Amino acid sequence: MDRIRIVGGAPLNGVIPISGAKNAALPLMIASLLTRETLTLENVPHLADVALLKRILGNHGVDCMVQGKRAGQNGTTGETIELSARDIVDTTAPYELVSKMRASFWVVGPLIARMGEARVSLPGGCAIGTRPVDLFIMALRDLGADIDIDGGYVVARAPKGLRGAHIRFPKVTVGATHVAMMAASLARGETVIENAAREPEVIDLASCLLAMGAKIAGAGTSTIQIEGVDALSGVRHKVMADRIEAGTYACAVAMTGGEVFLEGATPSILQKPLEVLGEVGAEVTATNEGIRVKRNGSGLSPIEVSTAPFPGFPTDLQAQLMALVCRADGTSRIRETIFENRFMHVQELARLGADIQLDGQMATVSGVAKLKGAEVMATDLRASVSLVIAGLAAEGETVVNRVYHLDRGFERIEQKLGACGATIERISA
Ligand code: EPU
Repeated sequence: MDRIRIVGGAPLNGVIPISGAKNAALPLMIASLLTRETLTLENVPHLADVALLKRILGNHGVDCMVQGKRAGQNGTTGETIELSARDIVDTTAPYELVSKMRASFWVVGPLIARMGEARVSLPGGCAIGTRPVDLFIMALRDLGADIDIDGGYVVARAPKGLRGAHIRFPKVTVGATHVAMMAASLARGETVIENAAREPEVIDLASCLLAMGAKIAGAGTSTIQIEGVDALSGVRHKVMADRIEAGTYACAVAMTGGEVFLEGATPSILQKPLEVLGEVGAEVTATNEGIRVKRNGSGLSPIEVSTAPFPGFPTDLQAQLMALVCRADGTSRIRETIFENRFMHVQELARLGADIQLDGQMATVSGVAKLKGAEVMATDLRASVSLVIAGLAAEGETVVNRVYHLDRGFERIEQKLGACGATIERISA
């Protein structure tokens, strides 16, 4: 397994290009199952999760071409991929594939809507929490699907097609909002989704579906209305910039000091994190082309933050913020409200010298004057990158094990940080 070696202490200076968003690319790729025509996606990031989803879609019969070449070839810019689900050959998504990436469960929505049947493995638990699928099942039942759980699979049937419905989510869920929106686009009649997720990735999916001929209003608000259509067409769509990648590098610059321009980042969808970084002590400037983040000399201030659905502080930046305030002058309190077990980075940050107390969903971080490099390991994507951030500011050498977690969601991280002056390298196994 690859490892990342970092020698901390250097400030970051330069430009970091922000890639396409993983959490937008995945549902957009899944939307290709809704149409017989070709869906062309631009700015798709080179990530392990994208590669895995290509395999999963291939299993259903989706033909995936990368800029005229077959999938799987690498480059340094975002890919343009053509997904063509002309004939769906298999409506089963097997355990071996779905258990590797939870978002692949989302194929259940397009498959049941277009084919009238879907058999999709339950994803199982994951490192950050139990993550049940009850709200997906609720929404699909509301849309008229018959659903059984059989042998670890969700078996959904709607031989006469789905029908529009009133869906009210008891809690905000990004994935079930994506799935309900995709399924309702091909249902008969009108659907209203209440308490929908307002995440920018939901808007990106909705705008692609709109271009494909869906009738959707209200994406980005808590009430989404969808008028079902008979068929959707192919279209060309550019994946939005990754707000979590941008927020992560912003935390890194706030940590090391220096000045970095996050090229292509969208400030309007990062308001809360940028406000928090300002409170911690970074200077943040929004421009039309990206976000400039700077910290020169000043110390870091402690903060109090709770994660929340958009537009609140994202759970996907919680670990990175925690790494940052490990070196604040005072005590910070960070509450995780989305996932029940998203604190695996705490023990590893402690190996670098951080002082963090956990009490249920609340982490109390007492700032320390310095962190010291060590060998660390993480069990999920955002936790791993928090260790990279801490390593960039720690004295001496930090080695992050299990880099495959990072490769799921951060494209060329060692090159992007290395180009800004960090001493960081991948040690290949
Ligand atoms: N939930 C249920 N029942 C359901 C569905 C969700 O109880 O049927 C709960 C979850 O267990 C969680 C809460 O609802 O406690 C919110 O989960 P949500 O469904 O919003 O999460 P998700 O769709 O599985 C996406 C992102 C996550 C991100 C969350 C929250 C993708 C591929 N994943 O997950 O991203 O943390 O929304 O914003 O879009 C990551 O990129 O590292 C990541 C984990």
